[in-house]
Amino acid sequence: MIKSIKTSRVLLCLSIVCLLSIKTKSTPNFLSIDCPNTTSYTPNSIYKTNLNTLFSSLSSNSTSINGFSNSTAGRNPPDVAYGLFLCRGDVFTAVCQDCVTSATKEVVQRCPKSKNVIIWYDECMLRYSNESIFSKSDESTGLILRNTQNFTDQTRFKEILGGVMDDIATRASNGGSGKKFATREANFSSLQKLYGLAQCTPDLTLSDCNKCLRDGISNFPNCCDGNLGARVLFPSCNVRYESYPFYNVTATAPPPPPPALPPPVHPSSPGPSASRGKGGISSQVLIAIIVPVGASVLLFIIVFCFVRRKAKTKHDDTKEDSAVNEITTVESLQYDFGTIQAATNNFSDDNKIGEGGFGHVYKGKLINGKEIAVKRLSQNSGQGGEEFKNEVLLVAKLQHRNLVRLLGFCLEGEEKILIYEFMPNKSLDRILFDSQEHGKLDWPKRYKIIEGIARGMLYLHEDSQLRIIHRDLKTSNILLDGAMNAKISDFGMARIFGVDQSQGNTNRVVGTFGYMAPEYAMHGQFSVKSDVFSFGVLVLEIISGRKINDFDQSNHIEDLLSYAWKLWRNGTPLKLMDPTLEVSYSRNEVSRCIHIGLLCVQEDPDARPSMATVVLMLNSYTITLAIPEEPAFFSPSKKELNIGQGVESDQSTSKSIPLSVNDVTISELDPR
Ligand SMILES: *[C@@H]1O[C@H](CO)[C@@H](O)[C@H](O)[C@H]1NC(C)=O
Ligand SMILES: *[C@@H]1O[C@H](CO)[C@@H](O)[C@H](O)[C@H]1NC(C)=O
Ligand SMILES: *[C@@H]1O[C@H](CO)[C@@H](O)[C@H](O)[C@H]1NC(C)=O
Ligand SMILES: *[C@@H]1O[C@H](CO)[C@@H](O)[C@H](O)[C@H]1NC(C)=O
Ligand SMILES: *[C@@H]1O[C@H](CO)[C@@H](O)[C@H](O)[C@H]1NC(C)=O
Ligand SMILES: *[C@@H]1O[C@H](CO)[C@@H](O)[C@H](O)[C@H]1NC(C)=O
Ligand SMILES: *[C@@H]1O[C@H](CO)[C@@H](O)[C@H](O)[C@H]1NC(C)=O
Repeated sequence: MIKSIKTSRVLLCLSIVCLLSIKTKSTPNFLSIDCPNTTSYTPNSIYKTNLNTLFSSLSSNSTSINGFSNSTAGRNPPDVAYGLFLCRGDVFTAVCQDCVTSATKEVVQRCPKSKNVIIWYDECMLRYSNESIFSKSDESTGLILRNTQNFTDQTRFKEILGGVMDDIATRASNGGSGKKFATREANFSSLQKLYGLAQCTPDLTLSDCNKCLRDGISNFPNCCDGNLGARVLFPSCNVRYESYPFYNVTATAPPPPPPALPPPVHPSSPGPSASRGKGGISSQVLIAIIVPVGASVLLFIIVFCFVRRKAKTKHDDTKEDSAVNEITTVESLQYDFGTIQAATNNFSDDNKIGEGGFGHVYKGKLINGKEIAVKRLSQNSGQGGEEFKNEVLLVAKLQHRNLVRLLGFCLEGEEKILIYEFMPNKSLDRILFDSQEHGKLDWPKRYKIIEGIARGMLYLHEDSQLRIIHRDLKTSNILLDGAMNAKISDFGMARIFGVDQSQGNTNRVVGTFGYMAPEYAMHGQFSVKSDVFSFGVLVLEIISGRKINDFDQSNHIEDLLSYAWKLWRNGTPLKLMDPTLEVSYSRNEVSRCIHIGLLCVQEDPDARPSMATVVLMLNSYTITLAIPEEPAFFSPSKKELNIGQGVESDQSTSKSIPLSVNDVTISELDPR
């Protein structure tokens, strides 16, 4: 169903937009109408009568506080009219009312016959159909509008856009049944800002909303790469960004955690005066096209997201979640030692489930039956009690579906204990590297895990309040929930444990051989890019099913990275793949993931992509990936490293990896 709106109509729309925006505030700005000629009714039909009833009911309901209402008119199936409207989350009731009333009048003039219509305005959307349209996500038709001017600094723009849209999609879909709406502004440079908006009809479930928004966002790289503004309007949701405030910034409550985006790197970018405020719209070149029914390349992602969010929805219904969201005080997080002793059977060996960095981990069960994971920190942390509490409070506020949730802590005498949500499927390494179990992880599951880790890391790096560098990302720190969603654990440990936080040098290396970027392992320099390196290693492990540090030397294969690089260089990257994936893999996805993995493990930290770029690359099949440089091959010996106390190093051997001196020609390497 690919259609294009005639230029004349676009011009008409444009002139109406300009005209109306000058005339009066409460006249809505018409954008487009979807008026298929496949279903039609006649002027004297019962459907027409029902439609009139529907319109008056919707108009009278347009004062609804959440800017949404659905209604049905008629009883007998062929003639029942189903309708709904959705006002933009920030508009006032009066504006919403005006928009809906205008829409009900205008829609019959513009589209007098069709039974199944959607009309879009800046302020609201109205739709009706002879089939039920409630509580189900619809992306079967849509509209893309864009401002064809480009942002000046494209790299930075993409990073910021990825982070902003990911955040508002998550927040909007979590919006409950009241309003599924979120906005966010981010500093682009000292003069320029980026404003983003995401909204679903509130009748959607969390998972449907999330899927719809992300499908919308995934169009940006294709349709509107680098454009100064763009929006995707689906029947069930819409997403938009601009370089000027297009929604009422004061009316939209700022997100609870102030976003911590990377500081502007190009303060000298040209001023935005030309594209701000009201002038913005009229200077925009709007191009309207009807979006094809669900891009097939995204099908995989969609299915995974759906499954994942479905599980998440169930989870969100539980009481604990809403309670945890309201954490404000240290007291609400503090457990007493007796409770934890009782829950873990006094830290019995039977309850021990792991030995992570900084201490042992026990499974526990609270009196109310809730299962928890208890991490008993090794006792000489050198961090004072107050500091510890403050850090725990901050880390507990980091909440993302791909992070293991920190539920609380216990502090008594020398004892410092952290309490986490319990993950039934243990850690990724126990499945991925187990000869019996690894077959359970087919490609769709592995891909979902890769995506989940990327999103979780993006949150830690850019969207959370604190900007956390994980420093010890590895398979044993990726836990899996019941639906095999990846949950990153052990984040914020450096903070809680009182290790130097500032970016730069540390003489205390907290990490695991093989996963550590060379600059971190050898010089103690850590940054978000050293996490990106570890992420790249993880990706290659997940695809190959082989441990970074456990390689079969009899095959003359030095290590996973050199092996992956050699295959890539020979144009046969897919040979890296775990043979059990043969039946389930998608050639395109696997080779793209290998490509991304190799980009992440490059020697030069600056050459590695940011997590925002990684997420974007995973979501878009049309972004052209850079050609990776040879990965970092280094040969640390344990003695050269200054390992901190209590730090896990689950490697028993360290490999001596010869530095490759091959002069490689890489011009024909892209295997796609
Ligand atoms: C519907 O419209 C399309 C293009 O606008 C046209 O090609 C087609 O013939 C129309 N179908 C009917 C039944 O009028
Ligand atoms: C919407 O209108 C109908 C009939 O006009 C009424 O029964 C219903 O309660 C209204 N719903 C809301 C949310 O106002
Ligand atoms: C609104 O939609 C819900 C399902 O989301 C449905 O149960 C309800 O009957 C609808 N209300 C009207 C007035 O049609
Ligand atoms: C809606 O209308 C179309 C065309 O008139 C018809 O084929 C379809 O069965 C109708 N749907 C319902 C639920 O009545
Ligand atoms: C924006 O960038 C695209 C390619 O990224 C280019 O084709 C287009 O001409 C640019 N538009 C403007 C207005 O510079
Ligand atoms: C953006 O910059 C302004 C000043 O230029 C500052 O007040 C504001 O806090 C910054 N916002 C963010 C999200 O960094
Ligand atoms: C924006 O919202 C604020 C606070 O709700 C309100 O005072 C102001 O009038 C609104 N501005 C516009 C243009 O609607």
